[in-house]
Amino acid sequence: MKNILVIGATGQIGSELTMELRKRYGNSNVVAGYIQGAEPKGELKDSGPSAIVDITDATVIENVVKYYKIDTIYNLAALLSVVAESKPKLAWKIGIDGLWNVLEVARVYGCAVFTPSSIGSFGTDTPHINTPQDTIQRPRTMYGITKVTTELLSDYYFNKYGVDTRGVRFPGIISNVTLPGGGTTDYAVDIYYSAIKGESFVCPIAKDTFMDMMYMPDALNAAISLMEADASKLIHRNAFNITAMSFDPDMIYKNICKYAPNFEMTYNVDPLKQKIADSWPDSLDDTCAREEWGWNPSYNLDSMTQDMLEKLKLKLK
Ligand code: SER
Repeated sequence: MKNILVIGATGQIGSELTMELRKRYGNSNVVAGYIQGAEPKGELKDSGPSAIVDITDATVIENVVKYYKIDTIYNLAALLSVVAESKPKLAWKIGIDGLWNVLEVARVYGCAVFTPSSIGSFGTDTPHINTPQDTIQRPRTMYGITKVTTELLSDYYFNKYGVDTRGVRFPGIISNVTLPGGGTTDYAVDIYYSAIKGESFVCPIAKDTFMDMMYMPDALNAAISLMEADASKLIHRNAFNITAMSFDPDMIYKNICKYAPNFEMTYNVDPLKQKIADSWPDSLDDTCAREEWGWNPSYNLDSMTQDMLEKLKLKLK
């Protein structure tokens, strides 16, 4: 990885991944690709190059790849699960037509491509406890359908054209820089903001609903270490199960209460979010990622809570 393009650089993961890549590979070597209306700001804007990259426009992607001599693309453009249910066609256009554009440019210009999949690529028929790496993937959400297709199309480009495609199935990502927009796991981010603002939190997901989660620093490390991994050790490519923790709303609430004893939470279950959450695994088996490229997360629920509360206190004061 010498010259890197991040598509979706102002989104929840992109905004932090771009900065982390700049730290590791040099500011001028990482281009922040964004869409009109989501321009980079502050440090993200000032620390390195940026360019409009609408993933639905293949020519624009090609021009940026040529101009900056890009050899690695992190493709983070997507609609999250809940939004995708209200805009299924757009979710497909961005997730799959967009991916096709990226893969074609990558094939012609010899780029490696990272595209995340998700716990959303599984469905009700999937074994929910210790979900294996290779198992049934029959999601019924548009988000899930685009993620399974992402995995298949990325593997297709590797097997047929030798494009170096790699991906992980991200669980819910918890972060304190950029808010996620319209996901099922967003509650696990929002709850920290409520705790710091001294508000009581209304949880849209029912007690006893377990989902895999991960703190952003681990998610960034996963994306970068997989792209740096020795290709000869990879048995899988698109995409690896990875997880750092699994909890239900009550567990995260009680953990926050250790540090904010007066914090209150009530439930008002959102039927769509609940239905999606119920169709996703409770806990993933990430053995293949550990064995094939050394995946090993650093944060658990308690260390994440301490760091989130500390960072948000500073951010929101
Ligand atoms: N965080 C995502 C969502 O909730 C899951 O990958 O849509």
